[in-house]
Amino acid sequence: MAKRVLFVCLGNICRSPLAEAALRREAERLGIAVEVDSAGTGDWHVGRPPDRRAIAVARDNGVDISGLRARQVRREDFRRFDLIVALDAQNLADLEDLRPADATADLSLLLDHVEGRRGETVADPYHGDHSHFAETWADVVAGARGLARRIGAEK
Ligand code: 4NP
Repeated sequence: MAKRVLFVCLGNICRSPLAEAALRREAERLGIAVEVDSAGTGDWHVGRPPDRRAIAVARDNGVDISGLRARQVRREDFRRFDLIVALDAQNLADLEDLRPADATADLSLLLDHVEGRRGETVADPYHGDHSHFAETWADVVAGARGLARRIGAEK
């Protein structure tokens, strides 16, 4: 059965949509069945497409994320997904606060899946420029590769 993976950042318009796109692409490359989604801990951007700078960096790397729409994380997500992957430490702390008693999802930080980067966070590029979004892309690709390898090995 396909593993279900949910990426969570603050706004669901910059980092987690990029992580979603990176894992989808990596899983396709490796032939691994995954269902991928993303959400934000905050609700400010619900229903909106990703930030135009995130759309641009994804497009530069051959991926179209313009059709994604932001949503807020929900309690049901903790049962619906096998893995919930936070982009930074605050997202992880917020998820731990939200986590219902009957949660089955495994919570982690994206960069925990990258050798030598355990505990590191993917910096929020929202107040940055194009170079910050390029850094975000590099981080989410590294995380997606590690995650895809882990999921592939558990198959
Ligand atoms: P994200 O970036 O969490 O990577 O989607 C942000 C987007 C919006 C805001 C903060 C971070 N905001 O404050 O509106």
